[in-house]
Amino acid sequence: MKTLASLSKAQLTDMEKKLSDQYNDFKSRNITLDMSRGKPSGDQLNLSNGILTAPLENYITEQGIDARNYGILDGIDEVKRLFSDLLDIPCYNMIIGGNSSLNLIYDAMARLYMFGSLGSTPWGKLDKVKILCPVPGYDRHFAICEEFGFEMVCVPLKKDGPDMDMVESMVKDPAVKGIMCVPLYSNPDGTCYSDETVMRLAAMETAAPDFKIFWDNAYGVHHVFKQVSLMNIFDACRQFHTKDRILYFFSTSKITFPGSGVALVAAGDEYIREIKRHFGRQTIGYDKINQLRVYNFFKDVDGMLSHMAALAKELRPKFNIVLETLNQEFEDSDMLQWKKPLGGYFVSVNTMHGCAKETVRLAKEAGLSLTNAGATYPYGKDPDDSNIRIAPSYPTCDELEQAMELFCICVKLASVRKALEYK
Ligand SMILES: Cc1ncc(COP(=O)(O)O)c(C=O)c1O
Repeated sequence: MKTLASLSKAQLTDMEKKLSDQYNDFKSRNITLDMSRGKPSGDQLNLSNGILTAPLENYITEQGIDARNYGILDGIDEVKRLFSDLLDIPCYNMIIGGNSSLNLIYDAMARLYMFGSLGSTPWGKLDKVKILCPVPGYDRHFAICEEFGFEMVCVPLKKDGPDMDMVESMVKDPAVKGIMCVPLYSNPDGTCYSDETVMRLAAMETAAPDFKIFWDNAYGVHHVFKQVSLMNIFDACRQFHTKDRILYFFSTSKITFPGSGVALVAAGDEYIREIKRHFGRQTIGYDKINQLRVYNFFKDVDGMLSHMAALAKELRPKFNIVLETLNQEFEDSDMLQWKKPLGGYFVSVNTMHGCAKETVRLAKEAGLSLTNAGATYPYGKDPDDSNIRIAPSYPTCDELEQAMELFCICVKLASVRKALEYK
């Protein structure tokens, strides 16, 4: 491997000049490209247009309820069955909510803050609440924790999930009340939790009796290159009598229309009973018409999985553009590290320490929007200033090729300039 540090000052200066010329050439083209948020492309959205175009002729649900009217708090039976079959969670343990799983996560935090759970002290009445945050992670999870004043404790994500030795040691502290998990194809680096990780999360002894695992399975069916299977957390927790530590979230945001799908929360037998009581105070019921539309579109798990296969077909060439460009440009270099995700929505890369912010700044100045450097860490602080999240789904393939070309120039320019600082 060629390391930048092994190059002489003259060699680095020469590289800097050439890269600056390439960069300025890009800048002069006045382009606007976006690899920031993980939004589906128009072509992906079109695959769900059947939801909009199929008339809703029968609005009487299987339970004989008129979906146009009030009634049913926790979701219509047919949608529950669809998700129950898909995720292997008993219907009783889930509530079909509104349009957003993030909203359900926020509400779950708010309930714990205001009311506690199953008789425990509300978190808002405690001096300190700590939440374990596997990193790199999802910025909006961190924003919720920050809003409630919970102290976020970073735990490194290893290749098969959070560093469990560290997690097991941390949960001996009674102030540690929860852990944020995206267990399959994590946002941003595509990590999939191994069976051992799931078992250890289920089995570990926590000093806090009201410890919660926020299991945000947002990418649970988003297989792109290979189908990785995730151990069922309910089965794992059943073995250790810890089911009431689960707070499971899922939505069809990245399956049909982001922000216009249906979301669910699921929990153990006792805790879901308590959550249903709170839901009953919060609303008369969620949007059953939307639930029926989603159900009619998919009908069953096979319908959902063949739709996911069509989405993956759209995404695969885009992931390939990103991964092939990275391979071509950095395979034999210490300027950038990454691993190939098998599914999900993102590619996460690590620059040399101290180069992520500068890379993102350079890209932005030349017309390419990237997720802010630091966003994948609590409080927006990446201690190494190294991680950048690439979201390849939204641009067209042509745009993505240009965006990746520019991105690589920016990484190299930031790295070479950093290396020159040490000469
Ligand atoms: C890990 C994760 N959770 C939740 C969400 C948001 O989901 P929803 O639209 O259901 O709120 C996203 C969206 O990118 C996500 O990546």
